[in-house]
Amino acid sequence: QPSNPQMEESSVLRRADCRAKGGSPGFKVAILGAAGGIGQPLAMLMKMNPLVSVLHLYDVVNSPGVTADLSHMDTGAVVRGFLGQPQLESALTGMDLVIIPAGVPRKPGMTRDDLFNINAGIVKTLCEGVAKSCPNAIVNLISNPVNSTVPIAAEVFKKAGTYDPKRLLGVTTLDVVRANTFVAEVLGLDPREVNVPVVGGHAGVTILPLLSQVKPPCSFTPEETDYLTNRIQNGGTEVVEAKAGAGSATLSMAYAAVKFADACLRGLRGDAGIVECAFVASQVTELPFFATKVRLGRTGAEEVFQLGPLNEYERAGLEKAKKELAGSIQKGIAFINK
Ligand code: NAD
Ligand code: LMR
Repeated sequence: QPSNPQMEESSVLRRADCRAKGGSPGFKVAILGAAGGIGQPLAMLMKMNPLVSVLHLYDVVNSPGVTADLSHMDTGAVVRGFLGQPQLESALTGMDLVIIPAGVPRKPGMTRDDLFNINAGIVKTLCEGVAKSCPNAIVNLISNPVNSTVPIAAEVFKKAGTYDPKRLLGVTTLDVVRANTFVAEVLGLDPREVNVPVVGGHAGVTILPLLSQVKPPCSFTPEETDYLTNRIQNGGTEVVEAKAGAGSATLSMAYAAVKFADACLRGLRGDAGIVECAFVASQVTELPFFATKVRLGRTGAEEVFQLGPLNEYERAGLEKAKKELAGSIQKGIAFINK
C-alpha cells in the first residue's frame, strides 16, 4: 500500500499530542546515509528508541524501501523517507539530532584517511544542509576519517555562521565498546560492568585507551597492556579484514551509534550525569579537537573533561596520538579553506 501523506501527518500529530499529555518528550532525529550498512541497523534501533517521536531517513539510494520496511514496526516513532539532494532540506527541517554515517567504508589494506577524498565532499554537502535547515541540531558524525570530518563540519558551520562547538560530536563510542569488551575478556568480567575511557581520536595510534583508569579499578601486566592497546587500536582493521572487501564494522557500529545518540537525547531531555567519550572541540591539549569524556546536557557537550592522571605508557601514547591527529585535523580544515 502506498502511504497516505495526510493520514501520516495526522497520525504524527496525534502521537505527538499523546506524548505531550503523558509528559514524555519526543525528539526528532534524522539519519543521513540511512540505507547503508550502518544506516539500516541504526535506523531500526532508533525506531525502537522511546525517546524518538519522528525519524527521518535520508540517503541517495534505497531510502524509500528501508523506510517502508521500518514503518511497519509497532513502535512509537513515525518514520519518513527522503531520497537524494532535492529532499535534503525536508529531511533536516525541525530535527533535534542528526546522525551522519554517510560515506564509503574501508577495504583491506586501506587506512581511514584513504577515504578522505570521497567522504570529505559528502560530509561538506550534508553539513551545509544542516547549517541551512536545522542549525540548532546536535550532530553525531560517524563518517570516516572522523579525525578530519569533524574539523570539516566545524569549518562548514563557521562559514555559515551557525557553529556551536557543543553541538558537533565525532562518534568514538565504538572504540569504548571494543575496549570494554576486550578488557572484560582479559579480566574475566561481564563487559557491562567495565568502563574504559578511550581518548585522542578515531584512527590507529590516535585511539588511546586509558587502561590505568578502567572501572572497576584493576591492573594489567605489560604484556596485557600491549595486547589490549594494540587490539583496541586495530579493532576496526580486524573487522575490515574479516569482511574481506565487503566493508567495515556496521552492526557493532550501529549499536555504538545508538548508545551515543541515546545519551545525547537523554542529555537534551535534561537528565543529569550523562558522560560519554566523544571527539569534540577541546582545550584539553594544544590541538583544537580531541576525544575525551564529555558531559552531555540540554545544549550538547556542556563540559569537556581533562585527561586525568596518565602513566608513562599512556603519556608516550599521547605524544604519538597528538602528532598524527594534528595532521588529520589540519587536512580537514584546509579542505574547506583551500
Ligand atoms: P555503506 O557504504 O554501507 O553505507 C554508506 C551509505 O551512505 C550508503 O547507503 C550510501 O548510499 C550513503 N551515501 C553516500 N553518499 C551520500 C550522500 N551524499 N548523502 C547521503 N548518503 C550518502 O558504508 P557503512 O559501512 O555504513 O559506513 C559508512 C561510514 O561510516 C564510512 O565512512 C565508515 O568508514 C564509517 N564508520 C565509522 C565508524 C566510527 O566509529 N566512527 C565505524 C564504522 C564505520
Ligand atoms: C571502525 O573503527 O570500525 C570504523 O572506523 C571503520 C573502519 O574503517 O575501521
